[in-house]
Amino acid sequence: MSGAEEFVPETHDLAELADAAAQCRGCGLFEAATQAVFGAGRSSARIMLIGEQPGDQEDRAGEPFVGPAGRLLESALEQAGIRRSDAYVTNAVKHFKFGMAQRGKRRIHKKPSRSEVVACRPWLVAELVAVRPNLVVCLGATAAQSLFGGSFRLTQHRGEVLQLDDEILLKELRGADPAIVVTIHPSAVLRGPSDHRDEALEGLVADLKAARAAAAQHSV
Ligand code: URA
Ligand code: SF4
Repeated sequence: MSGAEEFVPETHDLAELADAAAQCRGCGLFEAATQAVFGAGRSSARIMLIGEQPGDQEDRAGEPFVGPAGRLLESALEQAGIRRSDAYVTNAVKHFKFGMAQRGKRRIHKKPSRSEVVACRPWLVAELVAVRPNLVVCLGATAAQSLFGGSFRLTQHRGEVLQLDDEILLKELRGADPAIVVTIHPSAVLRGPSDHRDEALEGLVADLKAARAAAAQHSV
């Protein structure tokens, strides 16, 4: 399959984009998932948060970051002084990818492949064009690699204020030029050993604070 491009309508209206994404067949992930989970938030949001893909609960609810990772994110945002309602929240990949547990019916998250991330990228670009945020926070490597390419290393750039290549800004983002900060995914805090959780959360909060400071300086 050739990616989401042909499914993305020429509009800056988020509701129209979300309706169109519900029909997307740009990669194979639509088949097993319940529904596409498009971004949520106001088109006037100055901050855009990008996760990896919807999880089990997001897939059922049709909303991003409403499960355990969402609760952790909410708490980290609060500690960093960012209101979730001031942010537009989305994912690099719009359909949930999972496998089944060997016994039982539990759906286990699977990491999206590079080709699925690339296939879904036109939706993310459309959201960036529609929202034109001052600041983008990539939560985890999948989001960061969607914007900066498959060889981007999160650990090397964590917490830095980055910018996209001129070519992407001009051709894809149509002149929007957000500051971008990359940090860990909230699930990485939850998954880590329990004695490192506080430290991991503090790291996430520190990056979000740096992002907030960058946004204050960077208005387009
Ligand atoms: N993890 C993500 O990356 N996104 C969600 O929406 C939920 C969990
Ligand atoms: Fe389309 Fe993205 Fe869903 Fe694949 S994951 S079908 S590209 S919306």
